[in-house]
Amino acid sequence: MNQDGLKAAVARAALAYVQPGSVVGVGTGSTVDHFIDALATMQDRIEGAVSSSLASTRRLRGHGIPVYDPSTVESLPVYIDGADEIDLRGCMIKGGGAALTREKIVADLAERFICIADESKHVATLGTFPLPVEVIAMAVAQVTRRFAALGGTAVLRSGVTTDNGHPLLDVHGLAIADPQAMELEINQWPGVVTVGIFARHRAQVCLLGTVTGVQTLVF
Ligand code: 5RP
Repeated sequence: MNQDGLKAAVARAALAYVQPGSVVGVGTGSTVDHFIDALATMQDRIEGAVSSSLASTRRLRGHGIPVYDPSTVESLPVYIDGADEIDLRGCMIKGGGAALTREKIVADLAERFICIADESKHVATLGTFPLPVEVIAMAVAQVTRRFAALGGTAVLRSGVTTDNGHPLLDVHGLAIADPQAMELEINQWPGVVTVGIFARHRAQVCLLGTVTGVQTLVF
C-alpha cells in the first residue's frame, strides 16, 4: 500500500473514536482530508464539527457537515488530526500545512487528541522535519536570530501566509530532545504566535498506518 493508502486507512480507523451525537474537532492536511470524507459517511450520526482551517471548513461544508465556530463550543470529546512527526510519547511537530495556530486552539478544546499518521511520521526524536513557527511579521528577523542562537536555521516559507494572515518560519537543524521545555521556551519569545511543537497538547492515541495494518499507540 502506498503512503496515501496508509493515510486513508488510518482516517477510516479514526471513525471508531467519533462519539455519536457529538461535535468533532477536525484538523488539517491530506490525512484529515481522508478523515473528512470518511466522516461524511456517518454525518447523520454526528452534530457537526469544529474546524482548524479554512480548507477543512470548505471540505466539511462541501459534504454538508455543519461547522461550528470554536467560540460556541465549551469542549469536544475528540480532536482528530495528522502530524508531521510524532515521537514515542505522543509529542508532535505540526504545521506543515500552515494551520498550527488554529490546530492548537481546537486541540485545546478537546478531551483527547487522536493523531492519524502513516508510519513515516513516527520518530524517536522530533526535529528532522523543519519546525513550523507562525510569527508576527515585524518579528521575523528577531525570531530568526533567536533560533540561530539555538543552532537552528529559520527559513521564511515563501509565498505563504496563515489563515490568520501571518508569515511562517520553518526551522531546520533542531534536535528536539525535550519537546515540553522547547515549546515553553519558544512560546515566551515576543512575536511568536504559535510554535509547531505539540507537547502540552500531545496525542493520547496515535493510529499509525503501516504496511501490516493500522497500529494503535496509546500514550
Ligand atoms: C497541518 C498539519 C498536518 O497535520 C501535517 O502537516 C500533516 O499533514 P498530512 O496529513 O498532509 O501529511 O499540521 O498544519
